Amino acid sequence: MVNKRSRSTRSLLLEQLRLFRGAPVSGEKLAAALGVSRVAIWKAVKSLKEAGYPIEAEGQGYRIGQEAQNDSLHPWEFGDHESLVHHWDTTTSTMDRARELAERGAPSGTLVVAEVQSAGRGRSGRRWESVSGGLFFTLLIAQGGPILRYASAGMRATAAVADAIAGVTGKGAELRWPNDVYVGNRKIAGILTEIQGEGDRLNWSLLGIGVNVNNPGDGSRTTSCGELTGHSVSRRDVLDAFIASIGRLSVLEGASLAGEWNARAFGRGSRVGILPASHDEGKDRRDLFGAGIFAGIDEFGRALIRTDRGTELHEPGATSVAWDL
Ligand code: BTN
Repeated sequence: MVNKRSRSTRSLLLEQLRLFRGAPVSGEKLAAALGVSRVAIWKAVKSLKEAGYPIEAEGQGYRIGQEAQNDSLHPWEFGDHESLVHHWDTTTSTMDRARELAERGAPSGTLVVAEVQSAGRGRSGRRWESVSGGLFFTLLIAQGGPILRYASAGMRATAAVADAIAGVTGKGAELRWPNDVYVGNRKIAGILTEIQGEGDRLNWSLLGIGVNVNNPGDGSRTTSCGELTGHSVSRRDVLDAFIASIGRLSVLEGASLAGEWNARAFGRGSRVGILPASHDEGKDRRDLFGAGIFAGIDEFGRALIRTDRGTELHEPGATSVAWDL
């Protein structure tokens, strides 16, 4: 019998049907293998079919037909991590759902993913276009620590997103301070960080990540994995690559983490304009309050900008950078 403590009947059933590679398996055999009733098998089949899996019931039992590219973000596809994954066909924003879970004490690694968001949020109060084909998720990091280090989680996430995009598209992806991922001159992903803390202690961080995978970009200043490769890309592959990369980066802190970020950074050594973050959208040069050479970030995620007055440190969220001076 299969250990089903942390996995649902749907997850175990799918595994069994895939093991049989399209050959029919009787409901009785499946029920015995999974240690559940035949009715439970029938219900799981029904639910998987409703979710779009090509499962057929025939005389000798159930079989799974040829599956298209695995793009499923359903919890039952995540093996032993199934209970950490919360999937929504549509929701306002994965940030809202993740916040509710964090407030109820959900563990670190909890992941909320949505096919579509009706009120996707970007940074500085902007909207994040969230139509079908894109990857929209929020990862909860429920580890405490000094609040001064709040930017570390965002730094890891941005670097991991760039690695995931480079891995699936074969194109170099760069980080634009503070939290954007670009390929060439076009934005492909953005990261929104929300934190909760008390005094100088951080309680949890929410890393909200939006990647243009197969969805059309939002105008000429954006691109997508599909556009870059010329074919449909599995969102699941992007998510898996992100999870693997953020796992590797999770051991890094401080200067070594900043070093990883800087190694992927766009525009180091180039002349940039400095303006208030609230003026980010239009990037009107009349708003500039300074200019200098972008030298990367420090261990707290602050932009280092060399000016005539010396090296200035700019906080993410307070300042924005104009790259095209
Ligand atoms: C930005 O570049 O402005 C950040 C965009 C972050 C978008 C993601 S999509 C998943 C999560 N849910 C949201 O509402 N926003 C983030």
